Amino acid sequence: MILAIESSCDETAVALFGDRLDRELIASQVEVHRPYDGVVPEIAAREHLQVLPGLVQRIVGEANIDYAALSMVAVTRGPGLKGCLLIGSMFSHAFASALKIPCVGINHLEGHVFAPMLDCPSLDFPFLSVLVSGGHSEIVIVRGLGDYEIVTSTIDDAAGEAFDKSASLIGLPYPGGPALARLADSVKDSPYRLPVVMRGRPEMSFSGLKTAVRTLVLREATPESQEADSIRTTAGYLTRQQQAQLAYAIQQGIVDALMIKIEKALTETKIGTVALTGGVAANSLLRERIKSISGIDLFYPSIAHCTDNAAMIALVASLRRQAGLLPADRSTQVLSRWPLTDISN
Ligand code: KG4
Ligand code: ZN
Repeated sequence: MILAIESSCDETAVALFGDRLDRELIASQVEVHRPYDGVVPEIAAREHLQVLPGLVQRIVGEANIDYAALSMVAVTRGPGLKGCLLIGSMFSHAFASALKIPCVGINHLEGHVFAPMLDCPSLDFPFLSVLVSGGHSEIVIVRGLGDYEIVTSTIDDAAGEAFDKSASLIGLPYPGGPALARLADSVKDSPYRLPVVMRGRPEMSFSGLKTAVRTLVLREATPESQEADSIRTTAGYLTRQQQAQLAYAIQQGIVDALMIKIEKALTETKIGTVALTGGVAANSLLRERIKSISGIDLFYPSIAHCTDNAAMIALVASLRRQAGLLPADRSTQVLSRWPLTDISN
């Protein structure tokens, strides 16, 4: 049984994995960071330290196994917030050393790439991984385990970050991405339009869209509240209808920008399988739009496996162990930047 630990950002997650996923637990820090409208790295690291030992004890207790049943610890080594990664790494190495079992460092992005396989075992190589999360946006050709080619990636904000920052601009509390998506889905149309960013360029970019949202909110918001239940934003007040219509336009803008790159990648690579993954893979408009492309198979994980989790880390460790491709470097050192190309054979 593999014990996997994920602590790269604001979720402390553990999983037990035998031949397949046995069970997992996730402790979210959303409430802790909400007052700051974003993740505070130092607070996140302290939270991981506080929560992790209890979470490991709980999952082993719930599985009703002895620690001797564990054959390996797999931990996210990067990329992510350095302090957060260090807590996971130090804990995992110490724990594994006490049990005299190996501890392997796994790449978080590789975890996301393989996450759809947790729920869709029929997903087969080659596939086009559309990895869209709060920290990363990239489209990757996956020819096999450890065989990755980046087709395009963002040069600034990630797609999830664009959702979250735009949500904050229209007065939704952190992390606003899922709330913005729900609000957008509650209306059928919007008078607002956002520019489609980077249409002609090979890279993805979302910072221009964020500026366009800010400009639009500044134009639409009024200094005084127009209705009893108006929404207060940093730019002034929006009516509930304006807020929902802005959410609709923002979601369309982000998804349009992603679709241009996805369709281009499909044409260029001629790969017929798309595996959508990362937090933004939970977005229903994005799923619908990809599903509507003719002639492709679409795979995506369950909602719990779209966002950060330890099951995906365990899965990669298990696949790498089976293939004899476990990383040779067993140091406790973490890597806050660790692109997929660095682990490609
Ligand atoms: O994969 P994840 O948990 O974290 C990173 O590794 O970055 O992704 C979290 C991101 C957040 O930015 C969140 O707003 C976004 O995923 N997200 C969504 C939805 N659910 C989560 N964005 C759009 N629509 C959703 N339904
Ligand atoms: Zn992630």
